[in-house]
Amino acid sequence: MAKNTHNSRCKGKERIGITGKLAEYTQHKRTSTPYILLHRSINRTKIELMKKTLKWVGLAILALVVVLGIYLAIVLPMGEKSDAEMTDEMIDILRGKMVEDYRNGEMKRDAHPKCLGLAKGVFTVDSTLDTNLNIGVFQAGKSYPAILRFSNASGTVESDAQKDFRGLGIKLIGVEGTRYDSTEINSQDFILMTNPTMPLGTVRLFYYAVYYSIQHGKLALLAKMILSGNMNVLKQLANGPKHDTSPLDITYWSTTPYALGSSVVKYKLVPTSKTKSSLPNPLSDHYLTENLKAQLEKDSASFDFYIQLFENEQNTPVEDAAIEWQSPFVKVATLSLPKQDIDTKTRWQLAEQLFYSPANALEANRPVGGLNIARAKIYRTLTEFRHETNGQELTKPSLELFRSLK
Ligand code: HEM
Repeated sequence: MAKNTHNSRCKGKERIGITGKLAEYTQHKRTSTPYILLHRSINRTKIELMKKTLKWVGLAILALVVVLGIYLAIVLPMGEKSDAEMTDEMIDILRGKMVEDYRNGEMKRDAHPKCLGLAKGVFTVDSTLDTNLNIGVFQAGKSYPAILRFSNASGTVESDAQKDFRGLGIKLIGVEGTRYDSTEINSQDFILMTNPTMPLGTVRLFYYAVYYSIQHGKLALLAKMILSGNMNVLKQLANGPKHDTSPLDITYWSTTPYALGSSVVKYKLVPTSKTKSSLPNPLSDHYLTENLKAQLEKDSASFDFYIQLFENEQNTPVEDAAIEWQSPFVKVATLSLPKQDIDTKTRWQLAEQLFYSPANALEANRPVGGLNIARAKIYRTLTEFRHETNGQELTKPSLELFRSLK
């Protein structure tokens, strides 16, 4: 026992001794240079590790905020807005964009701002027109003077070398009858573009395009289209634009429907001129205007005008302009452009001052469907805003204006 006690005491003493030495040694090490260096390097590693962790946590939080932001931007504002609400919102957004885009100069149209040329023509309804189709402006054998505004669709003025959809506003003058809209008193407009369909075929889709691309950027629009199952729309918008030889060589479609009395029709315009243009190499910034000018200096030009009748909601849906109608086309008129000089100061000015709209129409040929109703309000409000901003009067069409137009 005593031995044991002694041993344990001795061991204890020894232990105390060793511990003491260790403590001494440790104390020495703490104050010796290698120890300090080692300790510092351990601290630095710890700090680096902490920094890295914080960085990753930060990135994760940022990613979460971005995803949440996109989600909120894409999903929340899309409650059940009515067409009228979306139309008014589009007007506000587009008005803001126009102010921004034309801060330092004369304000142009928000869409189709680049005019390729203003041409004079004559629209003659076929004398053999079926009596059932003699409705509104379509009166067998009747002729109307017409002012045509050719344009690029892009919302900014760009080089003609850019692939694009092209637009055409045809304003018939001297039109008589009960009017749908009284902004103008004697016109009938046909607003056409170079694609059989409008890929953004409903007010909602058009609203998405305007809202997301202008308010949140193209990436948000892309996300919205993908999430709402509209990838095909983006594909059509990407594949539709082309390099065209001349505005006189292209087929144009109304894409949206119009009344023909109690029926509903869409319009198509097919080029029939003998003289055609070719693509220059390289494509210059204004080659479409140059080809249009050269073609009309050399020769007259012509188009056939067709209507396509509504059959049923399956083949010929009224409310989705992205679906191509499956019904026959019937030729109803000819549009002739005599030889002329399109490149005059008066014409370039008038192109900015004329107002084209689906609503400039007789009641019998009024715009039909949500998209057209939205356009009627959007075009009128924005054109008035543009003219006010520029301090200009809206030019009303008249036979006198047509005759004196050089
Ligand atoms: C809700 C849908 C649409 C909106 C918001 C819209 C927007 C606009 C705007 C703001 C303008 C300029 C109006 C002005 O200041 O005079 C315009 C012009 C034009 N739009 Fe649309 N658009 C829509 C649908 C369409 C469709 C379906 C077509 C198919 C034919 C089309 C073809 C044109 C053309 C050709 C012009 C130029 C008319 C001219 O020469 O003055 N748009 N659009």
